[in-house]
Parts: sequence; C-alpha cells; structure tokens
Amino acid sequence: MKGIILAGGSGTRLHPVTLTVSKQLLPVHDKPMVYYPLSVLMLADIRDILIICAPESIDQFRRLLGDGSRYGIEIDYAVQPSPNGLPEAFIIGADHIGDDSSALVLGDNIFHGNAFSAVMEEYSGDVDGCVLFGYPVGDPQRYGVGEVDADGRLVSIEEKPGSPRSNLAITGLYFYDNEVVDIAKNLRPSARGELEISDLNRVYMERGKAKLVNLGRGFAWLDTGTHESLAQAGHYVRTIEERQGVGIAVLEEVALRKGFIDADACYRRGEELAKSRYGRYVMRVAEEFRR
Ligand code: G1P
Repeated sequence: MKGIILAGGSGTRLHPVTLTVSKQLLPVHDKPMVYYPLSVLMLADIRDILIICAPESIDQFRRLLGDGSRYGIEIDYAVQPSPNGLPEAFIIGADHIGDDSSALVLGDNIFHGNAFSAVMEEYSGDVDGCVLFGYPVGDPQRYGVGEVDADGRLVSIEEKPGSPRSNLAITGLYFYDNEVVDIAKNLRPSARGELEISDLNRVYMERGKAKLVNLGRGFAWLDTGTHESLAQAGHYVRTIEERQGVGIAVLEEVALRKGFIDADACYRRGEELAKSRYGRYVMRVAEEFRR
C-alpha cells in the first residue's frame, strides 16, 4: 500500500499566519502538524509516502523530512499548483500509486487513541473498495457526513450538509483499492468548483464497496482549522504527553517500535535534536528500547 499526505490548500482561516508558512508546518505543541498524519501512515505499516503540497512550501517540507531514510521510510514530494480538491491527490499521485492500493491522509488531521495501530493494521493492506473512518462530532455540518448499515457499509454520504442525516463525520483518512485513480480522473468539479472527496467516495458507495469504520468516542480526532482549535489541539497533545510521559507522533519512536530503524539510529537522531525536549525524549526511548 502506498501513502499520500495532502498538505496543499491555502489555510485562509489561519491568515495572516499562513500567508508565509504552510498550515501543515505550523506547530501542534512541540512538533510540526505534518508529523501527526505521517505517524498515522507509519502505524499502518506504509513506508512509501508521497507528500503533496503547494509549490511555495515544497522546499520547507523537504528540509523538514528529507527523503525519509532517517525514519526508515521513503518520502517523495509533489506539488498541487492550486487547491482543486482532495481527489486531485490521486491524479497527481498516479505514478506513485502505480498498481498498488493507497492510503490518503490529510496533512491537518490529528488522530490519537488507544489501539490505533491495531486499527490501522487491520484495515490497511489488501483493500477491496474503500475504507473510511467516521467520528461522532457535535458539528457534522462542517464535514463529510456518512450513514452506515448494520454491516458497516456506507449507505449515504453528503459533503457539508445543511441538515446532516447523522453525527458521523468522515475523517481525513481514507484507504482505497487501485480503482481510485480512474475514479478521480472521471470526477466533475462540484458547485464550489473543486473535486470533492465525498463524490469520489459516493462512487464506491454506489458500487456497494465503501466501508465506514466508526472510530468511536473513546478516541480523539482533532481539528486544526482555526486558531482556537489549533491551540486546543496543542493543549491536548501537551496534556497527554506530560501526564503520561509518552510522546504522540514522535516519528523516530514510531519508526523504532515498527522496526523501521534500530535503537542506534534512533538515539543518533535524538542527539541531533538534544537541545529540545523532543530530542531528549527520542534519546530516552532508544535507551529504554536497548534494555
Ligand atoms: C475535507 C473533506 C471532508 C472531511 C474533512 C476532514 O473537508 O472534504 O469530507 O470531513 O476534510 O478533515 P475540508 O476540511 O477540506 O473542508
């Protein structure tokens, strides 16, 4: 399975901050936002990842994450010249996907929860159709919204509906079989003038091949779209990290626990960042792992 992180968009709701910096590079507590979705793909065992971003931020993403080798993965970069909608990721990423299945995660989506790794491993890999992840929210009209039947099959989907038929928001993490490239190429722009991910998912739904997994309320799916929600996401991460003494989305730790890198490589990387708490945490994780 190939991974794609879509980190395009203009982040207009975060102006003026995002006039010069990509939204997905802004800090969420102690690390750049893109670390969180990247860790999600790594937890799903995906090691071949394409980051799609706006032309003006590609150098910064590259400087931040390099070719991925320090995390034992491979990262490539591509640009989305203008924000034409999420399904464009599959057109831009067609060569990267090749004849494989793919996972798309939006660069501003933060997931955190017990056993998330197990959930990712369960649904990634051999996908027939698509797998979407739902999360109950109080303001579903801001998202794609889905309904499921008793077997977890998607039976209705609407993008930002005025009167939502359920409270199940569809999160920005999607697993697809190889058909997704052709489906994306044949989509027409919506009234907003963009390709819509909900239209793409509706094609799978109409084929009876869309599954919607409810992540449930014992889980956190955090919003970063406004200054307030971005600050709240940072506070959430800080609260959990300090209380439990563990890191959330620490890429070196994820890579080590997944067996993508060894403890020595992890420790060396921590040393490079040792003036920060993040770096010292990475060193500690490597030391504990060795014991
Ligand atoms: C997009 C999708 C929406 C989804 C959301 C998740 O909306 O169109 O279906 O629920 O991401 O973050 P956007 O945030 O681009 O408005």
